[in-house]
Amino acid sequence: MQVVIAESTTQVGLLAARKVAQVIRRRADAVIGLATGSSPLAIYAELARQVAEGELDCSTLRAFALDEYVGLPPGHPESYRQVIQREVVEPLRLTPGLVHVPDGSAADVAAACTAYEQKLAQTGPVDIQILGIGSNGHIGFNEPTSSFASRTRIKTLAPKTRADNARFFSSLDEVPIHCLTQGLATILDARELVLVAQGAKKAEAVAKMVEGPVTSMCPGSALQFHPNATVIIDADAASRLTLTEYYRYSYDNLPDWQRFD
Ligand code: GLP
Repeated sequence: MQVVIAESTTQVGLLAARKVAQVIRRRADAVIGLATGSSPLAIYAELARQVAEGELDCSTLRAFALDEYVGLPPGHPESYRQVIQREVVEPLRLTPGLVHVPDGSAADVAAACTAYEQKLAQTGPVDIQILGIGSNGHIGFNEPTSSFASRTRIKTLAPKTRADNARFFSSLDEVPIHCLTQGLATILDARELVLVAQGAKKAEAVAKMVEGPVTSMCPGSALQFHPNATVIIDADAASRLTLTEYYRYSYDNLPDWQRFD
């Protein structure tokens, strides 16, 4: 795992966007894994800037979202389908038919999960998966004790996650209790992972993910199994790590062919 402690919070999004843009420039029909939440917004903003200025073309990209709430009415502004449409598809000028989100309003959610895995298997592997991390260590919506062998399935949101996400809704009661999420094994199938985290609220989860034992109590620790994972964080999110000097030294001495800044 490569840990990059960015010079500023703004730099987190810029560095991660450069990594994603490198993949897109190598392959115009790359498969990109999309995350929701606040953490990756700066990545999308920077990619959108590059698209607007003619530096990047995302029109032939294929994309898969990590997760979706269950039970929100179709078109609800906080459904991840709508969030992805608003924050990613429109600003990056993706082709809507090439963007997939698990179907949280399906009558048969188990069948919807199987269909999502099949679509991923036909189209994938994902070339680069963007990730954030929840304050309880979740990635996607894989809450603590999620199996490392898990695939796309229904999960019950942890009370902590519902409380954290209540800011997007008018009240806590409106936050769904269930979700569909790619499993940890699904996420680890991606060729490359880039996880971003900002702020002191993420410091404990980041420390457990990077330096803690691999345990389902911190689903993010699954990244320790991935051969090509980059964690890009600001100083506050890095504040509980112990090997910060080594991470900085290692990043400063990256061989040219591995650089993305
Ligand atoms: C959300 C999403 C995750 C996200 C995480 C952190 O609920 N399902 O994909 O990484 O929780 O969210 P944020 O970036 O807003 O802190």
